[in-house]
Amino acid sequence: MKIKTKDDLKKIKEKGLKSIYPDKIKIIVGMATCGLATGAGEVFQSLSQEVEKQKLDFIVSQTGCLGFCQREPLAEVRIPGRPAIIYQEMTAKKSKELLTALTQKEIKKEWAMARSGNGASSIKDSISEGLQGIPLYDQIPFFKKQQKIALRNCGFIDPDNIEEYIAQGGYFSLEKALRTLNPEEIINEIKESGLRGRGGAGFPTGLKWSYCRKAPGEIKYVICNGDEGDPGAYMDRSVLEGDPHSVLEGMLIGGYAIGAKEGYIYVRAEYPLAIKKLKKAIQQAKEYGLLGENILGTDFSFPIKLNRGGGAFVCGEETALMASIEGRVGEPRLRPPYPAERGLWDKPTNINNVETWANIPVIIERGSDWFSQIGTEKSKGTKVFSLVGKVKNTGLLEVPMGITLKEIIFDIGEGILNNKKFKAVQTGGPSGGCIPAELIDLKVDYEELTQAGSMMGSGGMIVMDENTCMVDVARYFLSFLKDESCGKCTSCREGIIRLYQILTDICEGKGKEGDIELLEDLSSVVQSVSLCGLGGTAPNPVLSTIRYFRDEYQAHIKDKKCPAGVCKELIQYFILADKCTGCILCAKECPEKAISGERKKPHLIEQKRCIKCGVCFEVCNYDAVVIK
Ligand SMILES: Cc1cc2nc3c(=O)[nH]c(=O)nc-3n(C[C@H](O)[C@H](O)[C@H](O)COP(=O)(O)O)c2cc1C
Ligand code: SF4
Ligand code: SF4
Ligand code: SF4
Repeated sequence: MKIKTKDDLKKIKEKGLKSIYPDKIKIIVGMATCGLATGAGEVFQSLSQEVEKQKLDFIVSQTGCLGFCQREPLAEVRIPGRPAIIYQEMTAKKSKELLTALTQKEIKKEWAMARSGNGASSIKDSISEGLQGIPLYDQIPFFKKQQKIALRNCGFIDPDNIEEYIAQGGYFSLEKALRTLNPEEIINEIKESGLRGRGGAGFPTGLKWSYCRKAPGEIKYVICNGDEGDPGAYMDRSVLEGDPHSVLEGMLIGGYAIGAKEGYIYVRAEYPLAIKKLKKAIQQAKEYGLLGENILGTDFSFPIKLNRGGGAFVCGEETALMASIEGRVGEPRLRPPYPAERGLWDKPTNINNVETWANIPVIIERGSDWFSQIGTEKSKGTKVFSLVGKVKNTGLLEVPMGITLKEIIFDIGEGILNNKKFKAVQTGGPSGGCIPAELIDLKVDYEELTQAGSMMGSGGMIVMDENTCMVDVARYFLSFLKDESCGKCTSCREGIIRLYQILTDICEGKGKEGDIELLEDLSSVVQSVSLCGLGGTAPNPVLSTIRYFRDEYQAHIKDKKCPAGVCKELIQYFILADKCTGCILCAKECPEKAISGERKKPHLIEQKRCIKCGVCFEVCNYDAVVIK
């Protein structure tokens, strides 16, 4: 069926609503890559098989990432007329017990993470008897301060079902744009919303669109950048896996406003599930007449093609990405000319990040006034972050700009694992910077993060505790960047390798007087004469760690000590005789058999055999192993 009118859309919406809230029990499993990695596939299979075996009149379905990755696999149970309940840390075995409980009209309260209500899943909390003790979704620390715009449907709808997307208001913004707004009005709306690119640089989206619209030329393109190469980041993957239509709709609106002929989505090959979901979404949107020729029965035609990237980090850079689509080597080129003027196949091209595109339909639906009230003066709206590292709650979150790092790490993340001390947080990916504990009250927006020596980047946030060596952290990111530099500019190709070598020397106790200054000088050269943002920002981890943790560099260089006890060449493991109970656990676990001692007597480490793997330190329950 081809959808041509708003009434057609409304009819599909009705169907979609019945699919989301059927008149029978529905169980949905979070089946994004993060869920699958923890066993969501087995949970889904177990539920489906058992429902079939027992001939239960239940529906088992799937959704994308619910956000709280720490607690996965997650499954939400929707019972008609009752608040939905999200169950955590599900297993195949627990799934069978859950089904038994449901058939007996019982609730497995002990496995429940949250129940809906107050708008959590837009199910009204009318009948909540018997659910006392299960916290409301909105009251859980992980969700309390979140505001979902880009992630609005992730973890709620079935990404393979376009009707569920339409039920949530999907494609109504496209209809509004095509029927009631002209291209200039759309661009003005996006300009006034204050939306800035979520891919890293934070360039105003509406302004970028207007440059491309005004650029001379009959043929123009629109691109979605789904390369997402930052270690630890998975925001874009989650949007593509959980709500691919939101990106398609955003691109369609953008394509229409810019006057583009065609759209491309570039996704890294390491994201097979995102690619699968996108393919299905494209096919469904075509079948419904929402993509391709004469969209919604209008004159507007716009196909979208999918391109797989080979996984090079530099291919996320816009000009390298376009070269890669064209089949050339993925290397950045000099700008200007900017893509808006000369992009894909030398035609005017507008490129935006996945999250940027996913925001567009909501801005068109709710208006720029609404959007621009969220956030800070210069950074409007929300931002999706992947919170990882030494934090208690890891996961995917979306928060209003202007929220503090403290709120993210200590309220949403609920603090540091094992009650250790918070030391720093790396924002902005490998070329971002480390922000120290004393800046914990920093507001998260583009300008504040840049001023602090880091950047917003695409949204990776890696939390570090007191046992993290900041020189080693800088070395880790430089190691990544040296491998990912395309090698076109000498400053970047040779400069990053040299920075990495100096950092390695420092970590190995071979640091020399003057190395810190050398790192600073070299960084400024790499920053200023490199062609693209990779070289331009690569020194950030070095400079930010020197800025905030200079004493740690000095301890490595002058005292030949690693205060965090990480750099192997600078540490030794010892057993404190007065604390050792002689439980022999460490001796049993030591891979080098370097620990000796009789049961119930203090043990000893033979330093010559010790490879400093840290296993004894990890396993000792009596704090008897120390690092010096
Ligand atoms: C080395 C490098 C890697 C990049 N990787 C990405 C990426 O993975 N995803 C992305 O959206 N932007 C990435 N960018 C930024 C893009 O060049 C471009 O600015 C962005 O896609 C524009 O979209 P936006 O305005 O919506 O942010 C990268 C930039 C550089 C220099
Ligand atoms: S700065 Fe680095 S990654 Fe960018 S073009 Fe030059 S060599 Fe390649
Ligand atoms: S694990 Fe700890 S307490 Fe047990 S023998 Fe080793 S050092 Fe001693
Ligand atoms: S650090 Fe590793 S190798 Fe060394 S004593 Fe402990 S367990 Fe053995």
